[in-house]
Amino acid sequence: MKKLSSRTARFNESLIRRMTRISNECGAINLSQGFPDFDPPKMLMDSLANVAYKGPHQYPVTWGAPNFRKAVAKKQSFFMGRELDPDENVLVTIGSTEAMVDTLMALCDDGDNVGLFSPFFENYVAEIIMVGAEPVYVPLDPPAFTFDPEKLEDAFRKGLKAFILCNPSNPSGKVFTRDELKIIADLANKYDVYIITDEVYEHIIYEGHKHIYMNSLPGMWERTVSCSSLSKTYHITGWRLGYAIAPKEILDRIKQCHDFIAVGAPSPLMEACMAGLEAPMEYYDELHKLYEHMKSVFVGGLDRLGFEYTEPEGAYYVMVNVAKYAKGDDLAFCERMARELGVAAVPASTFFKEDQHDWVRFHFAKRDETLNEALERLSGIGRLS
Ligand SMILES: Cc1ncc(COP(=O)(O)O)c(C=O)c1O
Repeated sequence: MKKLSSRTARFNESLIRRMTRISNECGAINLSQGFPDFDPPKMLMDSLANVAYKGPHQYPVTWGAPNFRKAVAKKQSFFMGRELDPDENVLVTIGSTEAMVDTLMALCDDGDNVGLFSPFFENYVAEIIMVGAEPVYVPLDPPAFTFDPEKLEDAFRKGLKAFILCNPSNPSGKVFTRDELKIIADLANKYDVYIITDEVYEHIIYEGHKHIYMNSLPGMWERTVSCSSLSKTYHITGWRLGYAIAPKEILDRIKQCHDFIAVGAPSPLMEACMAGLEAPMEYYDELHKLYEHMKSVFVGGLDRLGFEYTEPEGAYYVMVNVAKYAKGDDLAFCERMARELGVAAVPASTFFKEDQHDWVRFHFAKRDETLNEALERLSGIGRLS
């Protein structure tokens, strides 16, 4: 038999999803893969029930149902502070994951370099490799997750086609400040580099921090593709609805990729989600309160148990230092923690380019009882030393 593709041989299975499989196998509390254990807003479930009888059930307009694109454009125009045209600037995709792949495909040729911070969300490296490009890493060192502008410029000097910016960031929980964004933006302009943002956690921001859209910085609209989704904002990770927002000239090419990769996003789910996109501003205030609460339950518990962790500024993850238990093998440690303590986390080495095995990532988008039970189990962590 002929060899399978060498491109796809270069990436491994996702440790996030592997930990979910292990967690399911041994009945652990799954704080590895980031999805809630509570229902989506009732307005979405009601409209999903209606859509079952009313439709639509057939292929949508390839770029996304017109009413859905209009609603995304209206909502994001408000948050991004720029008038978006639903026909020219919005493409609806199968989660932000597909938006990211379409975008990389539209921007990159074989051998192009794509920059990203390390730690990074696992999918990016596989996606960069799948489109024939090469990742170039810039360290974002724990526990502060600050970057050295010199090292960042070194990466840009290598000749990047694009730079991926996850903000708010998974796994670090970092929310980039305006000054940090400006450093990245200035380099993008200086070296003529596209910025691809992943902003799926745009509405999950903690007190004292603010999400600033890269495409709202002076001169950045022209070179930024903003990828995001409804997965996290409306607790519907299984609905697989996302979007890319970009200037027409770039989006037209991304649309071409989407046309042949996906044909379209799920039409009944777009219709059912209209209620979410049209929700009043109070929805986002409530979302903020909900996540502040879950963060305080889990992170407060980590404090009481004496764990060292990095303070989340946004998103719903916390990085916990387990060096003294993991002893250099964070994957084996996470497997033991799932099987023996009944709590699943992600070994953070999967997020780092550097040889880093001291951290694990927990997510806390869970009901109080789930988080409290997980904390109770974690209080027995001494057994794993
Ligand atoms: C940073 C980041 N980007 C993208 C995704 C996936 O988003 P979607 O469900 O829209 O494909 C996730 C899911 O955990 C994520 O954490």
